[in-house]
Amino acid sequence: RKRIRTHHLQQLKEQGEKWTMLTAYDQYTAAIFDDAGVEVLLVGDSASNNVYGNETSLPVTVDELIPLVRAVARSAKSALVLADLPFGSYQGSPEQAFHTAVRFMKEANAHAVKLEGGLAMVPQVKLLTDAGIPVCAHIGFTPQSEHNLGGYRVQGRGDDAARMVEEAKALEAAGAFAIVMEMVPSPVAAEVTKALRIPTVGIGAGIDCDAQVLVWQDMLGLNSGKTARFVKKYANLHSVMLDATKQYVSDVKEGAFPAAEHSFES
Ligand code: KIV
Ligand code: NA
Repeated sequence: RKRIRTHHLQQLKEQGEKWTMLTAYDQYTAAIFDDAGVEVLLVGDSASNNVYGNETSLPVTVDELIPLVRAVARSAKSALVLADLPFGSYQGSPEQAFHTAVRFMKEANAHAVKLEGGLAMVPQVKLLTDAGIPVCAHIGFTPQSEHNLGGYRVQGRGDDAARMVEEAKALEAAGAFAIVMEMVPSPVAAEVTKALRIPTVGIGAGIDCDAQVLVWQDMLGLNSGKTARFVKKYANLHSVMLDATKQYVSDVKEGAFPAAEHSFES
């Protein structure tokens, strides 16, 4: 398979074919998801929660994300590698966004970057795109703004729906190659998707988006905690790993491991 590029994602939308984005933060997961045919591997700032153990995405830094992006870029043979710009690394100015995005491209081999926000981020999207850096936008519920949005809440209800369409159109006009919509009512996400030439990527945004994205630890059930309504668990890795690890512990205690075949003769 050849490398997925932004124009392929555009083509898929035009052909009415759905595509997938999934998070990845390390070598093995990136290789598995790439082999499975996931078009875009997102090294999300959700690494803050899912790799570094923070309660929100806010604390994670560029320096913490760069090695993860580098690992994913090394093992993704076909997928487009998308690096999330973390909180505080791009909102200040288009120049700040440019500086951060360039770090992800040069130091980690990212193919594109993602940033959160609507109209306020139009100058950032325009500068980066003009500079040759593909940008994925992210609207609706934007976790980096949770303190402004009043927690995890569905966005774009009522009068906000029209504003969301305008926001999405402005981001498209600024050059974004795709737009993630998080926790948006399905009919609103459908309206945005219809209004845009570029693909929309839904997470809690219904069936009519051009693509879907999930956090892999939620999708594969490594996370055993309570997950959002929009998550579908395709496996229960938590119990697979817990049971296997318990077996290892008891084998060692009972003298069943290592056996002769795991040991060296003199
Ligand atoms: O950081 C992340 O994982 C994301 C996706 C959930 C869209 O931004
Ligand atoms: Na994110």
